[in-house]
Amino acid sequence: MNVQGKHYRTVWLKEDDHIIVQIIDQRHLPFELVIEDLHTVAETGTAIKEMHARGAGLIGALAGYGMYLAALQSAQLPFAEFMPAIEAHAKYLISTRPTAVNLEWAVRRSLSAMQNADANISAKINIAKQTAIEIADEDSEFCRRIGEHGLEIIAEISRRKNGAPVNILTHCNAGWLAFVDYGTATAPIYAAFEKKIPVHVWVDETRPRNQGARLTAWELGQHGVPHTVIADNTGGHLMQHGMVDFVITGADRVTYTGDAANKIGTYLKALAAKDNNIPFYVALPSSTFDWEMTDGVNQIPVEERGADEVRFIEGWESDSVHKVRLTPEHSPAANYGFDVTPSRLITGLVTERGICTASAEGVLNLYPEKRKA
Ligand code: MRU
Repeated sequence: MNVQGKHYRTVWLKEDDHIIVQIIDQRHLPFELVIEDLHTVAETGTAIKEMHARGAGLIGALAGYGMYLAALQSAQLPFAEFMPAIEAHAKYLISTRPTAVNLEWAVRRSLSAMQNADANISAKINIAKQTAIEIADEDSEFCRRIGEHGLEIIAEISRRKNGAPVNILTHCNAGWLAFVDYGTATAPIYAAFEKKIPVHVWVDETRPRNQGARLTAWELGQHGVPHTVIADNTGGHLMQHGMVDFVITGADRVTYTGDAANKIGTYLKALAAKDNNIPFYVALPSSTFDWEMTDGVNQIPVEERGADEVRFIEGWESDSVHKVRLTPEHSPAANYGFDVTPSRLITGLVTERGICTASAEGVLNLYPEKRKA
């Protein structure tokens, strides 16, 4: 999408120097646009773990490029040692963040492409590069299609409201910054905006890391989409007063039975939406489905991050970013990164193949090749 009129993706190979991977370092947004160069698999792992790049689709795409860097840095090894080294790097990348399934999916896709490539190192490096590019391009294209399918939801509400702005609530950042381009929850919003359907987005700030206030608000603003940032506790009140037409969020892992893990606080919005008869959609590409798990609440691993993300907050003051403590100095804090919204609270899943119910039947009708014999 565009930043000050220039098109960016969130991850790419450096022009004229294809041994360097570049990302937007999201820790600096919305205050500064900083591009970071990654040269090694270790730097890639740190970028994922420390959330220079974050969001399910993006960490998958970046892990694909990380596998290519792993192949490059293993190029001098004797052939017999090459794949074992790659497998160790793969294990390391998978360990960097546990909840988003896209990460492991991308690493395994690259690993299997390298295992199946010709038995020489340069063929394996080439296929790793090719696979990284394919994963990124596919992520972008799938998000664009999610936008086309989700547009129908917005267009229908807009018709019902005789063209009055459609009020959409979203949580965290499932925008283009969380993917390679377009985003998932935001893709239908961008598609509606392009078609001149009036929309307005309520942006949950999304404590503790404030991806809504910092990232979603920034990207909607860059694109000119009307939006308002709200404190995380506001959604229920807005829903009770007819100020939300529908809710749409992204997801980090969705069981094929329809339970969706997303940023902490999503479940509470789904409960409030149910109580107020407001549609609650989850948008995801197929790389976010978990085809094995059947019980999201009990099976999806929920990342716990450092307590300081809760205890401290960052903001802009005068001409630089400052970090201040919010809590009493010695109060402990807990930081659960995600929660799981059970399928019964979800109106529908918006995927690159269309919209389906949040159920095994709905999902497998769209993805029949995943039916087990
Ligand atoms: O911890 P993050 O920022 O990597 O969290 C992932 C998310 O961005 C959200 O949960 C998002 O809504 C999922 S869509 C990629």
